[in-house]
Amino acid sequence: MSLVVFPFKEEKPEVLLRNVRIALAHPRVKEVLCVGASEDHCFRAVSAAIPELSREYGKRVTVIVQERLGELRPGKGDGMNTGLKYFLEETQHARIHFYDADIVSFSEEWITKAEDAADEGYQVVRHYFPRSSTDAMITWMITRTGFALLWPRSALPWIEQPLGGELLLTRAAAELLLSDPRVRRQSDWGIDTLYTFSMVAHGLPIYEIYIDAGKLHKLYGALTDLKTMLIECFSAVQGLKDEDVPAGTVHHFEYPGPVRQGVKERVGYDFERTLWLLREKWTDRQVELLELFPRPVREGMLACREYPRFSFMDEDAWAETYLVLLERFDPADADWRELLFKLWIARVLQYTTAVALRGYDHALHYLHRMVARYVHRALLGGSAA
Ligand code: LAC
Repeated sequence: MSLVVFPFKEEKPEVLLRNVRIALAHPRVKEVLCVGASEDHCFRAVSAAIPELSREYGKRVTVIVQERLGELRPGKGDGMNTGLKYFLEETQHARIHFYDADIVSFSEEWITKAEDAADEGYQVVRHYFPRSSTDAMITWMITRTGFALLWPRSALPWIEQPLGGELLLTRAAAELLLSDPRVRRQSDWGIDTLYTFSMVAHGLPIYEIYIDAGKLHKLYGALTDLKTMLIECFSAVQGLKDEDVPAGTVHHFEYPGPVRQGVKERVGYDFERTLWLLREKWTDRQVELLELFPRPVREGMLACREYPRFSFMDEDAWAETYLVLLERFDPADADWRELLFKLWIARVLQYTTAVALRGYDHALHYLHRMVARYVHRALLGGSAA
């Protein structure tokens, strides 16, 4: 039997409660745990609804505030790790599922597919979803790029959605993850990176299941909304750069189905508002830091102070930039944080205009090939055609 955990923060209570009900109605689910970032409005609404839910389904439902377990900004990492700790210390269930609380397309199928794959013996089951070609820009440009450049022989670059918060772990997998000090300290947005990293580093067999309905959740505006997430996700990869990851993990994935038009046509972010971020918040120190980067990147970025530019930040320029960032980026330094943000924006805008504009199928094929070329570059130098 399984525990389902929903970490949440300032969500719409009706969305979370609907998801709690779906989980409670599932025959494989014995208990549901909601882990709140604080005692916010959603926390109070969910707490009030729990006694009745619990009676109606005859199953245990609990809501708790996340513990302070990690060492970085208290965020989603503390929430997920609190869920793992509860699962291991307070229950005897065989499996734990995590789902983001704000998903409006959640259904029974998500739980069933994960349970089916776990029945086949996989210790980790990860859900993946069709996403628009201009969404997932941290996933592609930061996480999968970094995984390919740093651990080209491992399964890491090939994980479809390494930042996905929807997954199932067996008890043994949960024990390995929670006892990994690298995972425990990661209290911020870097937690998804660390879970993915740790499960591959421990060689756990992984199955990625495809959820056709997609993960419909709140959309992003200008890419500023993602700034903290970007910085924390990059720092998470950077903090791992000297770690070894063995090759040879069992990693299978379900072949994706046809992608619906709505997903293909969706625009992931506000282009015009994002464009102007390239001109903003320049300091003398950021200009100085640009000295560390290859000439086309340095010159292109300097020109942004007058007028937004980005065509120079192609795939190879980004790899060179990324390698400098891995060595030199300092997350404690505001100028470094702002510079990382602008460099990433240049990469996202370049990709959007040079690749995504040509259509969804072209773009998704390009992104997968890009990861493969980065793997090739890391193994053999240069880039593969
Ligand atoms: C990503 C974030 C933006 O996956 O959702 O990149």
